[in-house]
This record gives sequence, C-alpha cells and structure tokens, in this order.
Amino acid sequence: MSTTCSIDDLPSGERDLIATALRARENAHAPYSSFAVGAALRAVDGTVYLGCNVEISSYGLTECAERVALFAARAVGAREFDALAVAGPDSVGRPTPPCGACRQVIWDLAGNITIYLAAAGGEVQIWKAAELLPEPFGPAHLEEHRCP
Ligand code: THU
Repeated sequence: MSTTCSIDDLPSGERDLIATALRARENAHAPYSSFAVGAALRAVDGTVYLGCNVEISSYGLTECAERVALFAARAVGAREFDALAVAGPDSVGRPTPPCGACRQVIWDLAGNITIYLAAAGGEVQIWKAAELLPEPFGPAHLEEHRCP
C-alpha cells in the first residue's frame, strides 16, 4: 500500500525532487489533452533526469513524462536509480499515477524504485514500483525462455 503525506513532511531531497518534477511539467507539450505531466528521475549518484509528456498529432506516438525521463537518463549512460517523482495537473485534485505502459518501463529500466506522486495542496503518495506492477513481466522471463 502507498503512504500518503504532506510534501512538507518529506526530507529536503524528496521535496526538491518533487519541485523538479513540477518544473519539468511546465515544459509539457500537451495541446490535445491539456493534461500536463512532469517527471524527475534520480540516479543513485544524485543526478536528476527530467521528463514531460510530449503529445504528437498522430496520438499514439505520444510519450508520457515518466518514459521521457527514463529514456533521457538511459541515453546518457545512467543505469541505477532510486526515486522518481511525478507531478500531474493540479486541477485533478489527486496524484497522477503512472499509466500501465510506464509501469512496465519503470520496472525494466529502474527496478523497484520509490515513486512519489505529487498533487495539488501538497499531498504526496509514496509507492514502490513493485506495488504499482504486481507480478511483473520482466527481463528475467526472457532469460528463462529457451527456444525448442
Ligand atoms: N500521461 C503521462 O505523461 N504520464 C502518465 O503516467 C499518465 C498520462 C500523459 C500522456 C498524455 O499526454 C496525457 O497525459 C493524457 O493521457
């Protein structure tokens, strides 16, 4: 189960990560849904990688904020992460959870990291990736697979 708390109750490192996700959200390109999302992914060395959702006129090509952050980190060689903050639109009134596709990508590229979901009013939900994707498919299944 997730923990819910006020952003003010978190240590400064986590507050900063959420603030960074909120800033990344300002760069969202969401002309079709108007649903702007920001993400901040922290590597174990403390480097933070940013993502925002990028919508494309052929809608299926849209990328979520979480995946943009994960792919950006991967592209510059980052491999180990410990936390991801996601900030959705304030108007929703509750945290925006990662979509199913992003949960799989988080699991594959970052494993069981801590995920902070921020919402209006300073409410934060804290999850582990494994809680958001129970019984995950993953690289281990492919390693176990043998062609007949
Ligand atoms: N979106 C994200 O960026 N992250 C999520 O986890 C949920 C959905 C974006 C995709 C699309 O641009 C918009 O929100 C509406 O679905």
